[in-house]
Amino acid sequence: MQVITDPPQIPGYTYGQSETASSPVSMEDLHKIEQTATLAEEDERYLQMAGEVLESQAEELVGAWRSVIGSQPHLASTFVGSDGKPDERYKAAVKLRLVQWVIDTCRRPRDQAWLNYQEEIALRHTSLEKNLTDDACTFPYVPLRYVLAFAAVIVTTVRPFLAQQGHSDADVQGMHDAWTKAVLLQMALWAQPYVNNGEW
Ligand code: HEM
Repeated sequence: MQVITDPPQIPGYTYGQSETASSPVSMEDLHKIEQTATLAEEDERYLQMAGEVLESQAEELVGAWRSVIGSQPHLASTFVGSDGKPDERYKAAVKLRLVQWVIDTCRRPRDQAWLNYQEEIALRHTSLEKNLTDDACTFPYVPLRYVLAFAAVIVTTVRPFLAQQGHSDADVQGMHDAWTKAVLLQMALWAQPYVNNGEW
């Protein structure tokens, strides 16, 4: 698995840094969730392939997700500032980290630093940390039910992007399956801080 040795300088992106949360989930539990999601050796290979295919398209992919969020007021409201207008500075800052997440999902080894950053991302959707990283003043949390339901968008919209670079149908299917599993694995982990915080 490719290791990213030189993480990009993205404001608020604290992957592998000491200020990042510590995950209360053990590596042993992570492996059980991976097993439950049927993430296998083959998926790791396909995730690497997906990383190559998505690298140059990640920003466009995130743009597609943003359009869905923007078209639904109950989702768009989580980016609206105290003046009642979308907080463009906040949106732009978060977008950079979302683009990086696409690459991380494909390329990062699922070690302790990865596990910790899952906890951090989850916390940033809850009232425990939302707005904090970018000093924003928007709705205090993203309800878990919307995060989970939005996984449908994250999983389905990627397919045409995976098919963009002339891979065989079997490879596109393999990449899509691996991506789906990797996203749902993260959803299972992100539920953790929500459960204690009662923000369904
Ligand atoms: C499967 C579903 C989702 C995924 C994979 C996802 C992914 C991410 C990622 C990677 C980040 C940046 C984390 C970082 O700071 O490094 C983020 C932040 C954020 N997401 Fe999501 N997200 C999902 C669902 C949603 C939904 C449904 C909303 C509501 C519109 C939402 C709103 C936000 C907001 C407001 C932030 C910024 C939080 C902050 O203040 O730090 N997300 N998301």
